[in-house]
Amino acid sequence: MGFEGVEYVWLNGRIVPWKDATTHVSAHALHYGTGVFEGIRSYDGPSGPAVFRLPEHIDRLFASAAAYNLLHPFSPQQLIDATVEVVAANGMRNAYIRPLVWSGSEHLGIRVDSPIDVAILALADMGHVNAVTKENGVRATLSPYRKIHTSMIPSTAKACGQYLNSRLAIREAMARGFDSALLLNTDGTVAEGAVENLFVVRDGRFITNDARSSILMGITRDAVLGLAEDLGIETEVRALTPQDLWEADEAFFTGTASEITPIREFDDRPIGAGGRGPLTKRVQDAFDAATTGTSPTRAAWRTPVKGLAATAAAS
Ligand SMILES: Cc1ncc(COP(=O)(O)O)c(C=O)c1O
Repeated sequence: MGFEGVEYVWLNGRIVPWKDATTHVSAHALHYGTGVFEGIRSYDGPSGPAVFRLPEHIDRLFASAAAYNLLHPFSPQQLIDATVEVVAANGMRNAYIRPLVWSGSEHLGIRVDSPIDVAILALADMGHVNAVTKENGVRATLSPYRKIHTSMIPSTAKACGQYLNSRLAIREAMARGFDSALLLNTDGTVAEGAVENLFVVRDGRFITNDARSSILMGITRDAVLGLAEDLGIETEVRALTPQDLWEADEAFFTGTASEITPIREFDDRPIGAGGRGPLTKRVQDAFDAATTGTSPTRAAWRTPVKGLAATAAAS
């Protein structure tokens, strides 16, 4: 994920040049992980670029901030407008957007927060999922690291510090030659990937878990449940076990960065036919239509980036 081409950052209510969007080494968040963030994307389409499910992401940002009592003066609508503004200011059509709310620089004690800072970055290059991965899928492994139980750190809040758990899991999986990690929770059922939710497909039905399994309630997960309904695919929400993966016809990860990524192998055993399954492909196509604005039913999921018009290339 490169920072090339990023000219502006939204910081505490103002658009500032990239080089001026700095914080001090005494920032509380740098020492204790006391920040919350979002990962959001904008997609170009025939009617111009739009941010995918922006109000839902901003709502989750506010819920995450509330979980850690990170109080700042901005309203959800102000951060929605600011997100659109920073994408447009950078002239980006397909952006990865990273709002961040963090405890800044005034105290270092764990008992108190410093004044809260808010920034929104927009990056041009996502670089997470490519066409080959989207088609061929990834090889996942069961991680020796367990997902932090929601009684220890609320899994539904997207807080900076809890990504140490994700980072350990993904680096360990990569060191063993896998693409992705799957984490169990402390109950011994499957939680999720390092930065993705999990769906298993069995007998034509999508099965996924929920917050009771210590997961982040993904917005892509929610989109897939909605798109499945549009496509007439049955869904079930229940705890998942590694056995569900062994017995699956298909499986896929969901996430803003990874979109819908097929899982072709789990610990060296093929899932189903060992590639992208037909129902995974169907929901990927529906997702692409929703993100680019060609879906007849999901126009409300896109917040247009005002100031960046449709181009002939996108239509
Ligand atoms: C731990 C974790 N689970 C799931 C997800 C997927 O969430 P979303 O679809 O909202 O990006 C993410 C990514 O944000 C994540 O970091």
